[in-house]
Amino acid sequence: MGTSSHHGTLLFLLLASASNVFGSNVCTSRGVTTCQQCLAVHPSCAWCSQEEFGMAGSGVSRCDLRQNLIDEGCSSAALEFPSSTLTILKDDPLSDKASGTADDVTQVRPQKLRMKLRPGDAKLFTVTVKQVEDYPVDLYYLMDLSYSMKDDLFRLLTLGNKLAETMGKTTSKLRMGFGAFVDKTASPYMYTHPPEVVQNPCSKIGDQCMAQFGFRHVLSLTETVSRFTEEVRKQQVSRNRDAPEGGFDAVMQAVVCKEKIGWRPDASHLLVLTTDAKTHIALDGRIAGIVQPNDGQCYLDNDNIYNKSTVLDYPSLALMTDKMSENNINLIFAVTSEVVSLYKEYSQLIPGTTVGTLSDDSGNVIQLIEEAYAKIRSKVELEVLGVPDELNLSFNATCLNGEVILGLKSCSGLKIGDTVSFSVEAQLRGCPKEKSRTFTVKPLGFRDSLEVTVDFACGCDCEAKAVANSSVCSNGNGTYECGVCQCHPGRLGPRCECSLEDYSPSDDANCIPKPGSPMCSGRGDCLCGQCSCHANDFGQVWGKYCECDDFNCLRFKGALCSDKGKCNCGFCQCDAGWKGENCNCSTRTDTCMSSIGLLCSGRGNCECGVCQCTQTGAYGDTCEKCPTCPDSCTIKKECVECQHFKRGQYITDDTCNRICKTEIQEVGELASHAEHAVNCSYKDENDCIVHFQYYEDTSGKSILYVMKELECPEGPNILMVLLLVAGAILLLGLIGLLIWKLLITIHDRREFAKFEEERRNAKWDTANNPLYVNATSTFTNVAYRGN
Ligand SMILES: *[C@@H]1O[C@H](CO)[C@@H](O)[C@H](O)[C@H]1NC(C)=O
Ligand SMILES: *[C@@H]1O[C@H](CO)[C@@H](O)[C@H](O)[C@H]1NC(C)=O
Ligand SMILES: *[C@@H]1O[C@H](CO)[C@@H](O)[C@H](O)[C@H]1NC(C)=O
Ligand SMILES: *[C@@H]1O[C@H](CO)[C@@H](O)[C@H](O)[C@H]1NC(C)=O
Ligand SMILES: *[C@@H]1O[C@H](CO)[C@@H](O)[C@H](O)[C@H]1NC(C)=O
Ligand SMILES: *[C@@H]1O[C@H](CO)[C@@H](O)[C@H](O)[C@H]1NC(C)=O
Ligand SMILES: *[C@@H]1O[C@H](CO)[C@@H](O)[C@H](O)[C@H]1NC(C)=O
Repeated sequence: MGTSSHHGTLLFLLLASASNVFGSNVCTSRGVTTCQQCLAVHPSCAWCSQEEFGMAGSGVSRCDLRQNLIDEGCSSAALEFPSSTLTILKDDPLSDKASGTADDVTQVRPQKLRMKLRPGDAKLFTVTVKQVEDYPVDLYYLMDLSYSMKDDLFRLLTLGNKLAETMGKTTSKLRMGFGAFVDKTASPYMYTHPPEVVQNPCSKIGDQCMAQFGFRHVLSLTETVSRFTEEVRKQQVSRNRDAPEGGFDAVMQAVVCKEKIGWRPDASHLLVLTTDAKTHIALDGRIAGIVQPNDGQCYLDNDNIYNKSTVLDYPSLALMTDKMSENNINLIFAVTSEVVSLYKEYSQLIPGTTVGTLSDDSGNVIQLIEEAYAKIRSKVELEVLGVPDELNLSFNATCLNGEVILGLKSCSGLKIGDTVSFSVEAQLRGCPKEKSRTFTVKPLGFRDSLEVTVDFACGCDCEAKAVANSSVCSNGNGTYECGVCQCHPGRLGPRCECSLEDYSPSDDANCIPKPGSPMCSGRGDCLCGQCSCHANDFGQVWGKYCECDDFNCLRFKGALCSDKGKCNCGFCQCDAGWKGENCNCSTRTDTCMSSIGLLCSGRGNCECGVCQCTQTGAYGDTCEKCPTCPDSCTIKKECVECQHFKRGQYITDDTCNRICKTEIQEVGELASHAEHAVNCSYKDENDCIVHFQYYEDTSGKSILYVMKELECPEGPNILMVLLLVAGAILLLGLIGLLIWKLLITIHDRREFAKFEEERRNAKWDTANNPLYVNATSTFTNVAYRGN
């Protein structure tokens, strides 16, 4: 086995040892058989065309990283390794001011470059754009001459001089021209009955006006302002039937009839369309039976009238966009307020157009043109023309103040003289048929452009030295190209040594991976004992038994290997920075790092670059939010210590500002916040209890409210203690006295009751009482003689 497969898994090793097509790098892993295929695999792949290199059985791939091929003994002459290059061919400096001729004005730098790109490779270049001062201006005024514009026409008489005066402030090289339009001269756009209205469509309303016309070019661009006024004076309005007008027909002719109109190649081209009505658009011609699409050609006849007005349909927006971009025309819609919103919509669809609101009598048209011109000049937008599909361009704009805007190819708000630059990355995604292609990058409305020629480095030099019917390939049974034989049909093998005619059925055993399985995995034919894999619409099929392909891999959200890797024989080979069996898992961890320097704030795990919070109640990108976590008080306590009291661990190691970003407020009382608030308290170093509340609103904004009052233990009060003790003694004495008094009273009562009872008993027993002596005493009066 060669160097190519030491990192393979066991399965890979088994397969690899059988087929020699697998390896550890992107170049060797594909079953490429030609130099061209090899270059297309990856920009780092090289091909060795040396004849005696990597012959069958040696296990060395001709398509490998350049260094590996050299290490394997490929001579540098036989090495095919085109690299992408970029050369700037023309790089004239930008001009400051338009000079007399304007020919040598440069507004874009560089002007020409050439690059060679390998498939998959990209090159970066920078385009610098500067709007020079005093750039010539061509202004063509397209006027709607339908009847409602009658009052505006009168206004236009003074327009020329005033416009020249105003625009003179920004350019000394102004040219003005004039054209008019109404609508296609066909029914139902036109009055056709009675016949005389064709000549004077206003006769019905008792007025006099010009016959209807489509578009008429009146005055070619000229420096003589008086000519403008003169020609406008000759104009008369006309009248048509339906509300929308044929302005887009006029725009198309004004854009493409370069010679007649007289657009200078190196000037800003302003085309002003004034109208007060809607406009007909492509396919509207059908109601007049006009079905031939507009072809974007000039059809002004000798009278300067658009003579295909009734033959061709109105132009489409896309065609107008194309032609305007081709001719660097900036279209200005000067329209009345009723239709301004409609034209704004058109403007969105036609890049490089501006819209201004015209007052009813066109009184403000000069101001409007001036503003539109300033707007046009204040914006630089790049456009690219003729880019092949296989080339992917991406842009970053560096506008004013050096500020880089990603993915943008325009800058606005510029002043004349400002320089902006754009970095452009061109990436080749595939191989076009042709060998090289030239495309242009240019700012919209500018003449200057950058011409880029891309050489597609898709082929190998050795292909030129290919030998048809070479003796190396079994006496002319194949073409010898870049070190390998491309066999003629019916021949196989590294040297085309096998012929299908010599086919022997015993060879079929070589095409069956294990007994009972289909030959060549059912995706190829067994030829001369080798599988020849069928082409597949989904991708490549390869391998000794056609068991490998680049489309049967795990998908994620419909994308093969999540678009973050290559599918190789059933397994995703992930690009750097991705892992997982479908490569949907980012290996980044910086996205999980929380502000306290812990992955997922220590409350979860970083999986595929995203925190999976494991602590209940934790949320947020890095699980940093968790008002209800038991430890949120502990974490925040340190912040209260350092932010509010300016002490504690975080002050010691100077991490307070980094870790504690929560706003802190001192309050008299903790308010009641319904959600995401947690009341905390802790004992500080002075044994005082600090109460605080950590509050988070739903938007994630958090505040720490700290209560002003601390609960601190107070020292013992001697007097109080003495008083208390004395009071207690007194109380005890009193209670004692009371109890004694109570006992005495009860005793006395009892004694008294007993005495009373005894006394009562004594009364009842007097007769028997031996001690009883009657209280009555009888005395005998001895002197008494009677009876
Ligand atoms: C229209 O004008 C072109 C010239 O621009 C001319 O070749 C053509 O003959 C004219 N067609 C008609 C019908 O007048
Ligand atoms: C072109 O490149 C950009 C940025 O690299 C990418 O977003 C876009 O999908 C690519 N387009 C094509 C067609 O590959
Ligand atoms: C645009 O900027 C981004 C970010 O700096 C960078 O990755 C990208 O390659 C740039 N693209 C171009 C075309 O310069
Ligand atoms: C190669 O051989 C084929 C016949 O096998 C013949 O038709 C062809 O012309 C030959 N080509 C050259 C360049 O000799
Ligand atoms: C192909 O090879 C066979 C045997 O090696 C030889 O006989 C035959 O002439 C070759 N065919 C051509 C067209 O050269
Ligand atoms: C990756 O894909 C697997 C399987 O479809 C899916 O379970 C997992 O959630 C995905 N991971 C990410 C980060 O999208
Ligand atoms: C926090 O304390 C305040 C004031 O004492 C009280 O209104 C609020 O309900 C308490 N909040 C929680 C979550 O206990």
